[in-house]
Amino acid sequence: MPTVATISKEIHKPHLEVIGGCPLAGEISISGAKNSSLVLMTASLLTDEAIQLNNIPDLTDINGMVAILLALGVEIQQAKNTYQFQAKRLLNSQPPYELVNGLRASFFCIGPLLGRLGHAKIPLPGGCRIGARPVSEHIKGLKALGAVVSVEHGVVQASVPGLSKRLKGASIIFDCPSVGATETILMASVLAKGTTTIENAAQEPEIQDLANLLNQMGACISGAGGPTITIEGVERLHGCNYTVIPDRIEAGTFLIAAAITRSTLQISSVIPEHLNAVLQKLRDCGCSIETKGKKIKIIPNQINAIDITTQPFPGFPTDLQAPFLALLTTAKGTSVVTEKIYENRMQHVAELQRMGASIRLQGNTAIVEGVPHLSAAPVVGRDLRSTAAMVLAGLTAKGISKVEGLNHLDRGYTEFEKKLNSVGSQIRRYP
Ligand code: EPZ
Repeated sequence: MPTVATISKEIHKPHLEVIGGCPLAGEISISGAKNSSLVLMTASLLTDEAIQLNNIPDLTDINGMVAILLALGVEIQQAKNTYQFQAKRLLNSQPPYELVNGLRASFFCIGPLLGRLGHAKIPLPGGCRIGARPVSEHIKGLKALGAVVSVEHGVVQASVPGLSKRLKGASIIFDCPSVGATETILMASVLAKGTTTIENAAQEPEIQDLANLLNQMGACISGAGGPTITIEGVERLHGCNYTVIPDRIEAGTFLIAAAITRSTLQISSVIPEHLNAVLQKLRDCGCSIETKGKKIKIIPNQINAIDITTQPFPGFPTDLQAPFLALLTTAKGTSVVTEKIYENRMQHVAELQRMGASIRLQGNTAIVEGVPHLSAAPVVGRDLRSTAAMVLAGLTAKGISKVEGLNHLDRGYTEFEKKLNSVGSQIRRYP
């Protein structure tokens, strides 16, 4: 017969306890961008010289990518948020399955490995809770550059035929502006022979960050950040010292935390123009926003209902859909939130309804009728951003909420509750 201690141990799940109703005040400094750091780290595979990356955030996904690069033979040194990577001699072109299986970003290795070695073998990243996450555009682009690509037993095998082992520049038009596919082709084409153009490229700031790094390494890329990117292939790349851009999604999450608690807050170490669509929506729903250099100050007033549709950059980012929807549950009036990027990114709706939100879900459209307040409840975050959204909901709910899903949260936010507690929230972690 198991003892009570055994049962309680089995039932205990790491969670945060969030005390609702605490106003926020002060300033939060934003960390480096997760979705830039992960891809910039893989760019180190493109040269045998050392590259130094500064402002890398402290996240479990970063640790996962470090393990993958070490397994490929990259030498890595770290001093807090500064890393040095050097791929002098690569051991192989197939990272261990158990390392890549849990980290979608591991697929970013395929482009640089093909460009550097002429072959790569990477398991399909597979889907996740928010959607199928296909890589058909990535594969289409690699084939256009001359790679032979096959997908068998869940593994993508790519190789460059011929003695030169060198890809050839090509003109590529994406069916959709995929961030990962654009980054994959950027890294595969920088060492190709000839010119590559990418049309219908993703325009996210992370694309520009990658192009800026590659150009500092000696690449010749123009147009990044726009819909058409041109890459003139070069013979080799060299080392450099580069600083990763701030995390616009972390920044947006904390701005929404201020709005949901009706608190004036300042965030620093950000690039405001990376958040234009989010800042506009915060203004539209009633907040005053002041930007000065790398700081943004938000002064919420009454929060009014608005409509949001997620789009590729420069539109409203899908990664802030869940946090913003949490804000709209206590707005005055009825809002319509439509998720256009992923097929299954509304899992936070059921959890918000448990907290008293009045939401009607029709496919990927949520009709949100504002209520005076939410009520604390035990809730579960189902993916990275919905877990953050549940914490934000807990900040405003009456009572103490219990939020599970820390394994998701810690993938994408550095010291999330610590940063919020530094400006007045009362959140306790039960690991
Ligand atoms: C990146 O994912 C980010 N992840 C995601 O952030 C982000 O939500 C997404 O870009 C969109 O901005 C990283 O950078 C590590 P996509 P990625 O390829 O590259 C469809 C977070 O919370 N598509 O632009 O996988 C796809 O199904 C994460 O930080 C195809 O149809 O995004 C999806 O619906 C979540 N065919 C849409 O495009 C393809 O071949 C966006 O995918 C490729 C993609």
